[in-house]
Amino acid sequence: MGHFPTGVTVITTRDRDGNHAGLTANAFLSLSLNPPLVLISVDKSAQCYACFECANAFTVNFLSEGQEEISRRFATKGIDKFAGFAWREGNNGAAILDGVLGYVECRIAQCYDGGDHTIVVGEIINASASGDRPLIFFKGKYQRLAE
Ligand SMILES: Cc1cc2nc3c(=O)[nH]c(=O)nc-3n(C[C@H](O)[C@H](O)[C@H](O)COP(=O)(O)O)c2cc1C
Repeated sequence: MGHFPTGVTVITTRDRDGNHAGLTANAFLSLSLNPPLVLISVDKSAQCYACFECANAFTVNFLSEGQEEISRRFATKGIDKFAGFAWREGNNGAAILDGVLGYVECRIAQCYDGGDHTIVVGEIINASASGDRPLIFFKGKYQRLAE
């Protein structure tokens, strides 16, 4: 799978008590245009996994090429992922990170079993795009587009 290049996202949501949660993910795709649907895949052993069972919303943040540290942070268990950098709450209550290339705010439409992951389908309720230099993940390393 490492030989398939992808972008990098941070998927944000909230836990049962309203605390912000999130994880780095590259299992993301545009599923349908009408209705507008996206698909993510969340590891059942992730600490934030329970959020996707109780929350009804998530946001997919598309990371820019300068956000490798953000990617590493959201892929690290047991730390305060939201301390020390800029973000805001979106319309669906999940975090939108400053400096991202774009984001899609979703409500959870369906969940399907996917082995040790759960496939979560989100209906897009709001979206935005701005920058133009993506962070890329390929062969287990962070990469950038050639100039
Ligand atoms: C580039 C990259 C892509 C990842 N993609 C996914 C993914 O699509 N789904 C997933 O569940 N975990 C993925 N992970 C792993 C999670 O980010 C990591 O295990 C995270 O700590 C899980 O959240 P937790 O801290 O709440 O347990 C990815 C990690 C990296 C570095």
